Amino acid sequence: GEWTSEKYWNVLGVNIPDIFTNDPALLADYIVYFDTRADDVFVVSYPKSGTTWVQEIVWQIYNEGAISSEKQIYRFPFLEDTACNMSEHMQIDFKALPSPRLIKSHLTYSTTPRSANKDDQCKYIYVARNPKDVAVSYFHFTEHWKKEGNGYNGPWEFFSKLFIEGNVGWNFWNDHVLGWWKQKDDPNVLFLKYEDLHKDLPSNVRRIANFLNKTLSDELINRIAEQCSFKGMKKNEISYKFESEEKTSPYLRKGVVGGWKSYFTPELNERFEKEVMEKIKGTGLEFDFEA
Ligand code: A3P
Repeated sequence: GEWTSEKYWNVLGVNIPDIFTNDPALLADYIVYFDTRADDVFVVSYPKSGTTWVQEIVWQIYNEGAISSEKQIYRFPFLEDTACNMSEHMQIDFKALPSPRLIKSHLTYSTTPRSANKDDQCKYIYVARNPKDVAVSYFHFTEHWKKEGNGYNGPWEFFSKLFIEGNVGWNFWNDHVLGWWKQKDDPNVLFLKYEDLHKDLPSNVRRIANFLNKTLSDELINRIAEQCSFKGMKKNEISYKFESEEKTSPYLRKGVVGGWKSYFTPELNERFEKEVMEKIKGTGLEFDFEA
């Protein structure tokens, strides 16, 4: 078939969707010269790994369990998408944001902004998800891409190949996750897994709160977990839509572990094991592939 992939810029070696900016050199400078503040909190991930979910948990921890219908992109802006966006309503001046800034990013460990001063480091919460569910979730996100007109078209068969070959936004899943996994013991890095959140949300909300030095009552922890369950977040779906006319948010689809099974043929699974899973072997990083 005549399938085409999403169009990217190469920004500091990272595939960044070209619909985010028309000035990739400016974006590269913005990232390189970004001044972090010690009280910044970054939620970082490879796309489709549960970013929106962890962002909402962090936001509610900082806001005593409030629920906001304000769009999450304004409450918790996405660095590489909004820094140099050509549409004015999508452009965020991070320097002008009050502290503490809550920032989403999909950048790799080496490209993510950090302070040159060791004693002045901000916090990074990284969330990783099993790559088979990531690939399927990423593929479904292409429905949203089509609306934005980023040049992508093609079936799962095509997308899964691009994913394995790293020809997608933010490149190879394995490089991204391993880059952050190596830093998991840094005192200012919290490494989370989607499947763990799925298994036990309240204790992960507590883990996140502890990492952020927030003391929350059991009642509040449980309420945040309830409000940040898939169902809870669906109730406030408006907050995760780009356009209010959208029927559903592209960030809240199924929210399950193991959905990949109805997409992977035995051949694809074999290729995936060889070319993706093989690369994380021996690193200590493991995933649950079913609930
Ligand atoms: P699916 O497409 O598999 O449903 P990101 O925010 O990184 O783009 O990730 C989106 C994925 O996280 C989607 O996966 C979405 O449904 C899932 N997700 C979002 N909020 C969730 C929640 N509260 N519980 C479980 N999964 C959630």
